[in-house]
Amino acid sequence: MDSSALVINNLTKTYSNGLKALHGINLEIPHGDFFALLGPNGAGKSTTIGIITSLIKKTSGDIKIYGIDIDKDFVKAKTYIGLVPQEINFNTFEPISEIITNQAGYYGVTREVALPEAEKLLKKLNLWDKRDQYSRNLSGGMQRRLMVARALIHKPKLLILDEPTAGADVEVRRLMWDYLKFLNENGTTIILTTHYLEEAEHLCKNIAIIDDGKILENSSMKNFLSQLKNEKFILYTQEKVSKNLTLESRNLNIIDDHTIEVSISEDSDINSLIQDLSIKGIKVKSLKNKTSRLEELFMRLVDKNGK
Ligand SMILES: Nc1ncnc2c1ncn2[C@@H]1O[C@H](COP(=O)(O)OP(=O)(O)O)[C@@H](O)[C@H]1O
Ligand SMILES: [Mg+2]
Repeated sequence: MDSSALVINNLTKTYSNGLKALHGINLEIPHGDFFALLGPNGAGKSTTIGIITSLIKKTSGDIKIYGIDIDKDFVKAKTYIGLVPQEINFNTFEPISEIITNQAGYYGVTREVALPEAEKLLKKLNLWDKRDQYSRNLSGGMQRRLMVARALIHKPKLLILDEPTAGADVEVRRLMWDYLKFLNENGTTIILTTHYLEEAEHLCKNIAIIDDGKILENSSMKNFLSQLKNEKFILYTQEKVSKNLTLESRNLNIIDDHTIEVSISEDSDINSLIQDLSIKGIKVKSLKNKTSRLEELFMRLVDKNGK
């Protein structure tokens, strides 16, 4: 068995209107990975996912799923993949339990096998109470969860999710991310696109950043984040701070009476900053990173690419 869940080799896509969506991308995703494909709108994420799952025809390049070339044996490759597409696409007049068992049928999973599996999935995703409802009666968050349950009914080794939490509220996002974490810990390889960078930062092992159909960065999350040489913090102070407060060799941005924004470079640290403030009679009550570290690096890369 090939140890790579997915290998993409020199993939290009030009749509029929002449738009070049992918300019020869390469990716290798190991089995067991929790991989984030990140990029701004229009970067080529959905095009890539569409090609992997044969919903979109590639212009050139090769794709292997667990060692199977999708051009040679798509039927086999397909059994390895579960897809949660960006757009919700159920037959809204089908009851939920039918949506799942019908999907099982497409993969040759019998009803006897599918029924207990569907029950397990619907319970895990807090949808069991709704099993006799029509999907059109579900909230947006429930529909998102149902998309995940449907994608998993044939027990794919590789789950691909395209913006699975777009528009979902915080609670649904938490539940979804916890569930994906559980799946990954139990051996499912996960690839997702998301614009919730803070969550990607906590969950994903490896990332690629794509923009204008080109991969700008592909590394482990850890290595990528370690590039960040200075981080911006917001400090909340106990004492009032004057607009004119300065500290030697530090660039302070006084946001209001009790809030300071400051950047900590590689050769400095939070500890000495807090000491410097304390000498001025200011106690720091709490602090936070201004943005997530991933977001900071993401913005820098994408901004640079746009120039
Ligand atoms: N069917 C299509 N025909 C022509 N252009 C398309 C089509 N689908 C997507 N595109 C274009 O391809 C580029 C990549 O789109 P997409 O893969 O959907 O990006 P993302 O998912 O990263 O937002 C965009 O410029 C988009 O407008
Ligand atoms: Mg998309």
